[in-house]
Amino acid sequence: MNKQTNLQKLHDLKAKSRLGGGEERIKAQHSKGRLTARERIELLVDKGSFREMDAFVQHRTHDFGLDKQKFISDSVITGWGTIEGRLVYVFSQDFTVFGGSLGEVHAEKICKIMDMAMKSGAPVIGLNDSGGARIQEGVVALAGYADIFLRNTMASGVVPQISAIMGPCAGGAVYSPALTDFIFMTRNTSYMFVTGPDVVKAVTHEEVTQEELGGASVHSEKSGVCHVAADSEADTLFLIRKMLGYLPQNNMEDPPFLATDDPLRMDESLDSIIPDDANKPYDIKDVIRPIMDGGQFFEIHENYAQNIVVGFARLGGHSVGIVANQPAVLAGVLDIDASEKGARFVRFCDSFNIPIITFEDVPGFLPGTNQEHHGIIRSGAKLLYAYCEATVPKLTVVTRKAYGGAYCVMSSKHIRSDINLAWPTAEIAVMGPDGAVNIIFRKELEKAKDPVARKAELVADYREKFASPYVAAERGYIDDVIEPKETRPRLINALEMLSNKRDSNPAKKHGNIPL
Ligand code: HXC
Repeated sequence: MNKQTNLQKLHDLKAKSRLGGGEERIKAQHSKGRLTARERIELLVDKGSFREMDAFVQHRTHDFGLDKQKFISDSVITGWGTIEGRLVYVFSQDFTVFGGSLGEVHAEKICKIMDMAMKSGAPVIGLNDSGGARIQEGVVALAGYADIFLRNTMASGVVPQISAIMGPCAGGAVYSPALTDFIFMTRNTSYMFVTGPDVVKAVTHEEVTQEELGGASVHSEKSGVCHVAADSEADTLFLIRKMLGYLPQNNMEDPPFLATDDPLRMDESLDSIIPDDANKPYDIKDVIRPIMDGGQFFEIHENYAQNIVVGFARLGGHSVGIVANQPAVLAGVLDIDASEKGARFVRFCDSFNIPIITFEDVPGFLPGTNQEHHGIIRSGAKLLYAYCEATVPKLTVVTRKAYGGAYCVMSSKHIRSDINLAWPTAEIAVMGPDGAVNIIFRKELEKAKDPVARKAELVADYREKFASPYVAAERGYIDDVIEPKETRPRLINALEMLSNKRDSNPAKKHGNIPL
């Protein structure tokens, strides 16, 4: 072959590879409101930064007529690029080729970039659009998934792993994302289920649509499987770029620093945000935003277990993880879902050297048979365990209630929180004044001539004695009581004081978090 023919062959092969499953299937993909695998990568990484690998790979299967259906690149595009100039590895499944299903070579391509990501210490982003294991390849496809699952697990806590669900994803195509740190979904065009509606109908006779079974609203509001739901594919990819800005490249690095020009800013609105009536709600996000750099807060699990709020922000330029009880939803009580949501987030931050800032206003754990029977004891213990084992800088601000077991759990001094501040409105006690008086003065109240008036007196007395930050501060359980408006400069100062913090846990293979 002469030089010209060689080059022509290269161009032809690359052009064929870029066409994936062909014009018709690309048209079908677009008609469903979805982009192709390559179009998604273009939107995700910095312009012109993507370098594809394994563009010539083809499957080796002969069964079920597959030997007559060859697609160059197979059903996944892999490679590396940059986001805001920082290296990322990407795989993007191509639904136009065998429905993005995963066979032997598809798995090999993903494993290759995951191995490289681990060696170079850079995040892996998976854009999933796949019908799961390629049925025609049988156990070889299952083996391919298992190879990926193992790598997902080995990479956990070493490099950030982010999954976007971009189409109908089933089987292994949801279990690999489930092992990663964050799952993003696009509303109305992406679905996640272990088995699709057809299998559900055959097994349980239940008729259900893809949206009802595993749409973005189901997973971002009910199951909690999805961490961030966006309105379009472009938004989904933009939000991944944005979130990465808060994360380090790997567990050996600190997160990126972005200088701020107003670390001493105070916000007077905080001084009056706590209602006079201790049982009245307020929105904890109105506390979080004015304290953070630029008023920015990147919320995770925004619509799931809303009684706890978690997400990323910056304080004095430092990336931080926020965990906050939300008095505006269920009075900020800790239930099963909130405990698991908080625990998972605390563990992510600790894995990746992101300091944890806790805002506390919590009446306790949610009582009742529903919660007890579904294991609130086990779930609450997850949050407790996660806070106890975390060795990153931990700062706590008690804005109002810190009652009972929840006081211990929510990053108390006793479980290695570094600096615990309280606002003057803080109430730190075994339980709220009403409940406490009912229990400890039950007999006296039964005998009282005017039980209502006596109870009011006892409640006032209890509140004076215990429902304040000063008893805890007397013992050093609270390091300082501060004016709310001072919170931002005080937290930034504490973070900087802790910038060289080193702490560790006893040597062990691994702990046994109550799962
Ligand atoms: C081979 C597949 C496939 C698969 C889809 N296709 N899934 N090919 N293996 N798993 C092919 C279709 O034959 C079709 O090919 C093309 O992809 C598009 O699929 P459609 O069904 O036309 O698309 P749609 O109506 O959008 O439905 C998408 C879907 C559905 C919901 C994903 O295809 C589906 O239910 N697929 C099977 C899902 C599944 O049960 N997978 C196995 C999971 S087991 P043509 O040629 O017509 O374009 C698993 C085990 C892993 O993954 C281990 C986990 C622990």
